[in-house]
Amino acid sequence: MKRLDGKSALITGAARGIGLGFAEAYMREGATVAIADIDLDAATAAAAGLGAGAYAVHLDVSDQDSIDAAIASVVDHAGKLDILINNAALFDAAETVDITRASYDRLYAVNVAGTLFTMQAAAKQMIAQGHGGKIINMASQAGRRGESLVLVYCSTKAAVISMTQSAGLNLIRHGINVNAIAPGVVDGDHWVHVDSLFAKLEGKKPGEKRAEVAAGVPAGRFAVPGDLTGMAIFLASPESDYIVSQTYNVDGGQWMS
Ligand SMILES: NC(=O)c1ccc[n+]([C@@H]2O[C@H](COP(=O)([O-])OP(=O)(O)OC[C@H]3O[C@@H](n4cnc5c(N)ncnc54)[C@H](O)[C@@H]3O)[C@@H](O)[C@H]2O)c1
Repeated sequence: MKRLDGKSALITGAARGIGLGFAEAYMREGATVAIADIDLDAATAAAAGLGAGAYAVHLDVSDQDSIDAAIASVVDHAGKLDILINNAALFDAAETVDITRASYDRLYAVNVAGTLFTMQAAAKQMIAQGHGGKIINMASQAGRRGESLVLVYCSTKAAVISMTQSAGLNLIRHGINVNAIAPGVVDGDHWVHVDSLFAKLEGKKPGEKRAEVAAGVPAGRFAVPGDLTGMAIFLASPESDYIVSQTYNVDGGQWMS
């Protein structure tokens, strides 16, 4: 018996990176997985690569109609929704005096409103089904403390930790567990983007920021998505039924709380 046999999961931002790693892991554990992403071509390619049991869904988490359509399409495809991973997010970096309204609005629309309203739509579906569910939000070590050049992203991830606490307390009466994972640094396209932003802002060579950060990780290296999948499976399985509103650091020892 696999740990997620017969479960229907929706993972946002799953066309690449950590979300794709979660999708692979959930499929191995027996779940059907909606690869939901704003990049439908990439989601379609990712789903095809994963094989039967994975399917692509177009989703822009900053758009309510798109969220509602994605939930409807999961119910159409799999008959129900048991697990949501709110994984889609954007990153930006700037000096405090250079932060733009456009960057702030974009990150809050995706990382905060996107997480909240996708969680809300999934919770409504789970409540209607009447047998609980699992919601996992992607926070970050960035949500645990500020960073000099990362004010907006850090604050969105602090909001994810706070929303996880409140929603978890509110939804557990319906048997819906809401918890979060706070990764440290994970290799992939996200970090290529982070490294290039820091190269510009701090005058570093390509790869220099990544190397500096890697040297400070107690575990001695960046994570790969597979380092996070154990926690994502656990939080989606019945073994976590008594866990409510928590954010778990999976970060190679970078943060303790
Ligand atoms: N990579 C890291 O070091 C790291 C560290 C801590 C936390 N995280 C968090 O983990 C999660 C996944 O990170 P990743 O590194 O895989 O990111 P990534 O940038 O590689 O992938 C993000 C995915 O989200 C999709 N996306 C972007 N906007 C969207 C929208 N509006 N609607 C739907 N999909 C959208 C993108 O197309 C992409 O496929 C994010 O929440 C991120 O903040 C990442």
